[in-house]
Amino acid sequence: MTAYLEVCGVTHNFGGLQALNDCAFAISQGGITCLVGPNGAGKTTIFNVITGFLRPDTGRVGFRGRTLSGLAPQAIVHAGIARSFQNLRLFTDLTACDNVMLALPDRAGETPFGALFRPFATARSDRRRRADALERLDHVGLAARADERVRNLSYGEQKLLTIARLLATGAELLLLDEPASGLAAGALDQVMVLLRRLRGEGKTLLVVEHNTRVVQQIADEVLFLHQGHLLAQGPPARIIADPALAEIYFGGAL
Ligand SMILES: Nc1ncnc2c1ncn2[C@@H]1O[C@H](COP(=O)(O)OP(=O)(O)OP(=O)(O)O)[C@@H](O)[C@H]1O
Ligand SMILES: [Mg+2]
Repeated sequence: MTAYLEVCGVTHNFGGLQALNDCAFAISQGGITCLVGPNGAGKTTIFNVITGFLRPDTGRVGFRGRTLSGLAPQAIVHAGIARSFQNLRLFTDLTACDNVMLALPDRAGETPFGALFRPFATARSDRRRRADALERLDHVGLAARADERVRNLSYGEQKLLTIARLLATGAELLLLDEPASGLAAGALDQVMVLLRRLRGEGKTLLVVEHNTRVVQQIADEVLFLHQGHLLAQGPPARIIADPALAEIYFGGAL
């Protein structure tokens, strides 16, 4: 059987630093997989490789049996994979709604030429895009904040907005880089509820997460990355309870 997402022998070097070293894993469709590992383990780098922001030096990424390596980020979104960034990357001077509208796929026929010569059709299309964006905002609980500029949103709301942007792409596999980091308990719970709801709606999620409580509560499967290499894969209870992995993760702090 072909794996849903497949990372095979991926290596990536930044100058002399080997960020990914024969990294290999596969995830199946549906469910939440948490990607864990100490700082600098290569979690964000593997996201960058999967989503076309970095080309692997060696190895291959496959999605639904198709090779992705070599495709541009936009083509990978088109293939069905969208990712969020550790540092959010929102347009802070624009509204929440505009940020989501910018992530919606372009519709055929939408061109500057069309805006000049078919103004009514363009206005209709703009209204439709706004309605689509509002739907995604509502999905993450931000409908009431649609017209607020991003810089006036709380950090928790900004995190939710990054998820609304992912939903706007229509992708079926969502890669989230630390969606819960820096959040207070209430906002953290809100994100966890949302991620579980997305799983229930048929999305597949690969989530980088440092908080073991979050991992325990949302993960169906855990991947443990260390020095750019997959060290272990299994159910959260087993990975979290493994003393050798805890030693690597916390460097003996426990
Ligand atoms: N653009 C870059 N240029 C040089 N080195 C980089 C670059 N990006 C990442 N690295 C290095 O590659 C290694 C893996 O980094 P990466 O960001 O993938 O780690 P991470 O597991 O996401 O860590 P964290 O939990 O801190 O986010 C680290 O040693 C990092 O310093
Ligand atoms: Mg990272």
